[in-house]
Amino acid sequence: MKRYSRITGTGSFLPPQRLTNADLVARLAADGIDTSDEWIVERTGIRARHFCAPNVAASDLAFEACRSALLAARRNANEIDLIIVATSTPDMVFPSTAAILQHKLAQSNPAAAGIAGCPAFDVQAVCSGFVYALTLADSLIQTGAANRALVVGAEVFSRILNFKDRTTCVLFGDGAGAVVLEVSDKPGILASELHADGKHVGILCVPGNVSGGQILGDPTLKMDGQAVFKLAVGVLADVARSVLAKAGKTEADVDWLIPHQANIRIMQSTAKKLKLGPDKVVVTVDQHGNTSAASIPLALDVAVRDGRIQPGDTLLLEGVGGGFTWGATLLNM
Ligand code: ACO
Repeated sequence: MKRYSRITGTGSFLPPQRLTNADLVARLAADGIDTSDEWIVERTGIRARHFCAPNVAASDLAFEACRSALLAARRNANEIDLIIVATSTPDMVFPSTAAILQHKLAQSNPAAAGIAGCPAFDVQAVCSGFVYALTLADSLIQTGAANRALVVGAEVFSRILNFKDRTTCVLFGDGAGAVVLEVSDKPGILASELHADGKHVGILCVPGNVSGGQILGDPTLKMDGQAVFKLAVGVLADVARSVLAKAGKTEADVDWLIPHQANIRIMQSTAKKLKLGPDKVVVTVDQHGNTSAASIPLALDVAVRDGRIQPGDTLLLEGVGGGFTWGATLLNM
């Protein structure tokens, strides 16, 4: 029997502190930084984002998202045999956020203790991280190395923002999304494709690093917005067409496009190139901002829970981010 993988449950979590554009504009104004709701909405589509409290880490957000995904899949944590967390804002340099998450899940109730011992690791592909993690989990399930995975995107981007740089600090937010991905005799995941091109490192990066117990360089996000915009629009349409061709499908087969939620204009432009109407695109960037690796599973969970996404629907997930990295997954729910 051929082994496939299928999503059996989705979950997400947003930290309770929600900042509208007006809240952020007021906060930045207190530091002499000039921006406006009009500018942010017109250029990005963002109206609000969530920020974590200082004592909350990516693994805390991931934990809540996983609990919700496990409930939706009607699974207990001790039935999970693989954990992959996509994040660029890990709790620590090491160990992985996935290992920390595993321990939190194992301790959450006595019946969950069996999750300890399964492989757990992080994937670092910035905003493409969830598509990378899902593709890896799918491959490990297909080969028989795993049967039931938690695949998570979790970010606390508020920690790596320079709130004196208005060109970046208005764009991002914190949050987590997760899916339970299980072995199945029917496909679920139909096709995936991943890419990276390191020559674009400089247009989107956090250049600092830790050395000799100190941070060397700048530990906040740097972005050439226009260069990122141009690259993103080009690669997203190309990788979508490529993954559809791999699966023997066309744009007409797609019920829902769930792109990385960076900027409404990038999403609209990609959808237009793929001849998909705006009613087929799941948009959460207005309420979440850009949550990097968390944005796709967060959007997926929102549209599953509000009833837009139904069992049997065909979804096209697309990520693009620092590296430059990009990728897409076509799947049946
Ligand atoms: N408020 C008010 N004015 C601003 C702000 C702000 N927050 N930020 C910039 N401006 C000003 C600039 O200073 C500039 O002023 P000037 O004309 O007097 O010099 C003007 O607005 C226009 O700036 P641009 O950079 O040309 O604005 P643009 O239309 O390109 O929009 C944006 C900027 C929103 C960043 C856009 O380029 C974009 O969305 N790029 C893609 C970003 C993205 O998707 N990033 C995530 C990738 S995923 C990942 O891996 C993290």
